[in-house]
Amino acid sequence: MLLHDSAAPPVADPAFRGDVLAGLAQPQKAVPARWFYDRTGSELFEAITALPEYYPTRVETALLAAHCSEVGTRLGPGRAVVEFGSGSSVKTPHLLRAVAPSAYVPVDISGDFLRASAAALAADFPALPVIPLEGDFTRPLALPAAVAAAPKLGFFPGSTIGNMIARTATDLLRTMRTSLGTGAMLLIGMDRVKDVDILLAAYDDAAGVTARFNLNLLTRINRELGGSIPVEAFAHEARWNDRYARIEMHLVATRNVDFTVEGQPFAMPAGATIHTENSHKYGPRDARLLLRAGGWSPIAEWTDAADSFALILAEARPEKSAP
Ligand code: TRP
Repeated sequence: MLLHDSAAPPVADPAFRGDVLAGLAQPQKAVPARWFYDRTGSELFEAITALPEYYPTRVETALLAAHCSEVGTRLGPGRAVVEFGSGSSVKTPHLLRAVAPSAYVPVDISGDFLRASAAALAADFPALPVIPLEGDFTRPLALPAAVAAAPKLGFFPGSTIGNMIARTATDLLRTMRTSLGTGAMLLIGMDRVKDVDILLAAYDDAAGVTARFNLNLLTRINRELGGSIPVEAFAHEARWNDRYARIEMHLVATRNVDFTVEGQPFAMPAGATIHTENSHKYGPRDARLLLRAGGWSPIAEWTDAADSFALILAEARPEKSAP
């Protein structure tokens, strides 16, 4: 039996506390986007992926359905598939059916969400070992011993790489190369640069789900870090930053606000923002350059007719001398 002491105060995650206090102390306030994904945040994110304005999930899922068999042909059976930031794993069945893997390792920071979706997926693939790994995939991973001998296929869909600035993205790609080991392959989804109105709508939907997702971060800070942020005084905003080719999400103070988090005071004038997310968009050459900078050689890519989203297969080639 599991006993909960309901009188005990919640113990704040020290990494969450550190990121929030450091980020709120900056002139341009910012909180790393990974903290969106508490249980509510993970569920709201799943709702975003079903929105009419949010094309990336639909386009990427269609690309997977259409082209995974080719991935399977290129790779052959028996790889261990490691999915980074698996969430609800909705796109994964297409891939697992096509590549006949020896095991599936979904990695996610939201533990209970991860276990629930891993169990659902295991029920659909009774013969496949499913080994969920709770953790932050931006750190080097200690993969389960059961998959140590198998060559790996990393799966990084959803254009999550776009949520990182270039330096962090290349660090992550290199870390994945190390975690996945010799002979690894990577199947990665990247969103394309396109018409700004289409991009803005995808991050500011008419039903307000993305707004709730963004604002939930403040609710989480209040709950887990004893904050007094007046959530109703903030509004969701999506902006296109052309210089960086990215959508930015901000939480805008609609009036002057004062609040405390973990006892520390903060003040924001009306119009000031907390920057909560970047979603970088990549043209065809940008995408390949980023992968190469991270140690991966692109070997195949698939896009939809409008070139709105790309699925790229890359290989961790052994180092060799080059001019
Ligand atoms: N990586 C995806 C994207 O940038 C999904 C995503 C992450 C997202 N955070 C989000 C989508 C916030 C909407 C809002 O599009």
